[in-house]
Amino acid sequence: MSRLRVGVLVSGQGSNLQALIQAARDPMYPARVAVVLANHDCPALEHARKAAITRAVFRLADYPDRRTRDVEMARTLRFHGVELVVCAGYDAILVPAFTRQFAGRIINIHPSLLPAFSGTMDAVAMALESGVAETGCTLHVVTDDVDAGPIIAQRRVPVRPDETVESLRARIQEEEHTLLPVVVRRLAGQVLPLPV
Ligand code: GRF
Repeated sequence: MSRLRVGVLVSGQGSNLQALIQAARDPMYPARVAVVLANHDCPALEHARKAAITRAVFRLADYPDRRTRDVEMARTLRFHGVELVVCAGYDAILVPAFTRQFAGRIINIHPSLLPAFSGTMDAVAMALESGVAETGCTLHVVTDDVDAGPIIAQRRVPVRPDETVESLRARIQEEEHTLLPVVVRRLAGQVLPLPV
């Protein structure tokens, strides 16, 4: 069985990356993490190291500008034969020169029911402050409009009366960790290999 080659972009703890690594331990899972790229040092890289997955850090300070950095990241992903890019807690916006190269093949996980609380790194706190009865997480296709690409799947999480940002984030992340592997599995049946 040929497995979809996934490149994961990270900036944070890497719990979603870990969920994908875990799912891919099943030899019948139709995708595998081929490479992990970060834009700065972060704990997520440790998950990749432990799983013996190739990883690299592309610090903005090492490049003349964002475009050059992102194009170099795209080149690295292609070098590793990546067919699907997963932004899993990646905290930078990808330039069009990157998104063009993987158009329709970049997905992002966002901790809200998009379009609610889009375009922020603080979606969980904003949901809590706003008093909504439920929030959740969204898997969507990345386009050049931040958090506005086509929605693939969502999971709902009710907001409890005694909720804190931490408790709400933890329950949203629990949903993310099962949703992401499900969506990648589904896409693995649909995504065609990149042209060579
Ligand atoms: C997730 O909650 C995701 O929704 C958001 O950033 C967080 C990343 O967490 N985009 P982790 O690094 O996967 O633990």
